[in-house]
Parts: sequence; C-alpha cells; structure tokens
Amino acid sequence: MFTTEQRVAVVTGAARGIGAATAIRLAEEGRAVAVIDLDEAACADTVGKITAAGGRALAVGADVSDEAQVEAAVTRIAAELGAPTILVNNAGVLRDNLLFKMSASDWDTVLGVHLRGAFLMSRAVQKHMVDAEFGRIVNLSSSSALGNRGQVNYSAAKAGMQGFTKTLAIELGKFGVTANAVAPGFIATDMTAATAERVGMGFEDFQKAAASQIPVRRVGYPEDIANAVAFFTAEAAGFVSGQVLYVAGGPLN
Ligand SMILES: NC(=O)c1ccc[n+]([C@@H]2O[C@H](COP(=O)([O-])OP(=O)(O)OC[C@H]3O[C@@H](n4cnc5c(N)ncnc54)[C@H](O)[C@@H]3O)[C@@H](O)[C@H]2O)c1
Repeated sequence: MFTTEQRVAVVTGAARGIGAATAIRLAEEGRAVAVIDLDEAACADTVGKITAAGGRALAVGADVSDEAQVEAAVTRIAAELGAPTILVNNAGVLRDNLLFKMSASDWDTVLGVHLRGAFLMSRAVQKHMVDAEFGRIVNLSSSSALGNRGQVNYSAAKAGMQGFTKTLAIELGKFGVTANAVAPGFIATDMTAATAERVGMGFEDFQKAAASQIPVRRVGYPEDIANAVAFFTAEAAGFVSGQVLYVAGGPLN
C-alpha cells in the first residue's frame, strides 16, 4: 500500500512563517521539498535548514497568481526534484480595510494570490498526482473564513478555499488524491506582526490580547499548523478528504 519512493512536496509561500515551518516538517517526514516564494533568494534560509538536516530541497521563485510562472515552476520542480505529488497552497497576503475604503485592486490582489494561486498550482500539479495515482493537497484557509471585520477580501478568499478544497476532493478522489484545508486561528508570524502594526499595537501586547481570548490561553505557532499539514499529507491519511480542520486553540463556529 505504501511507497518506498521519496515523495516530492511543493509548499508555496515557504520563505518564512507557516510555509517555512511546513516545508521543514515535510522534509522531516522524508519528503523532498520544493520551496516556492516570490523571490528565489528569500527561499535560501528554508532550503538551507532542510539540507543541513540531510534533506532534499529546491528553491523556486514564482508568483503563484501568474499562470506562466506557475507552469514554469512546476516543470522545473518535476525535472530537478521529481514529479510533485504533495501540494500545500500556503502563499498569502493581507490587504485589510473596511469595505467602504477597500480598493478594487486590494480585492483583486487577495483573491488573486489565495484563490487564483491555489487554482493555478493545483491544476499544474494534479497531472503528476493522477499519473502517480497518489496525491495530497492541503489548502490554507483561516478562521477569518467565518467573517472578520476589515477583511472582506481575505474572508471571502479563505471561505472560497474551503469550497475549492471540497470540489478538488470530489473530482480527484478516484485518482488517489485527497484534498483538505487547514484553517488556522491566530498564528505568530510576520503576517500577524504586520496586523499589530496596522492597529497601532506592539506585537507582544497584540499576542497577549489574542491569547486571552483563546481557550488554550496561548497563540499558535507555525509548527502547530505544520503538524496538521503533516497529518493530512501522510501516506496513511488516504481516507480523509474534503475536510476543514480549524487549528485555533479552541472550537470555532
Ligand atoms: N498567521 C496567521 O495568523 C494566519 C491565520 C490564518 C491563516 N493564515 C494563512 O496561512 C498562510 C501563511 O501565512 P503566514 O502567517 O505564514 O504569512 P507570511 O506573510 O509570514 O508568509 C506568507 C508568504 O507567502 C509569500 N507570498 C505572498 N504572495 C505570494 C505569491 N503571489 N506567490 C508566492 N508567494 C507569495 C510571501 O512572500 C511570504 O513569504 C497564508 O495563506 C495565510 O493567509 C495565517
């Protein structure tokens, strides 16, 4: 049932934060990992940590919302690392604002990176998964999918990721491919640090305030999300598909 071949995983937005922790975790699980981010040089840190620990990794510069760059990146990964059969659609951006102040370009940017990016990456990688009769796709949603003030673009994108995931699960299941979503709550990364700055709070105080509202009384860390992704991408997780797992230190509606 299980292969002895090394699987190739692709993690987008993996130069830092949740993507970097996920790439490192998947390498620890024995995967070869393509580390995609906007700037190839920015991937060096994640790749260096994987190779220093004896793993295989490749830095790839690509904008996931650009069709030609996505196709070129996946072709290069298949040639240099092997056919990718694990995909983590993690790349993300925020352009928060209240509806009446939000520009159309801030709407398009957020929908473009999260939804169009996940679509382009999944379409490019699925042929390798179908050929291998094995695939694992994990999409990063968010607790903001349930609605969050100042994030009409982001919450729409993250709710969209859930519908996208379920449809991938339905279409690709017969090829041995599962698709699931991880929806983080508050995770301490550059993204939440930028939000703290935008609302005029120090990051420490911002985290303390967030932790006081979370049942386990702490904020999340990138490794908390990497751990959930490792479960969904495991060889043994083949009967778990179309699910959304909130990883938020407590229940959400
Ligand atoms: N941090 C949180 O609290 C939190 C909560 C819920 C969901 N998420 C989601 O988790 C994912 C990772 O978040 P993070 O906190 O690590 O963010 P981050 O800002 O620290 O990292 C995101 C990475 O994505 C890259 N990226 C952005 N646009 C890209 C593009 N077009 N092509 C390729 N790479 C691109 C960035 O360069 C960056 O390295 C995102 O999808 C985010 O929406 C984060």
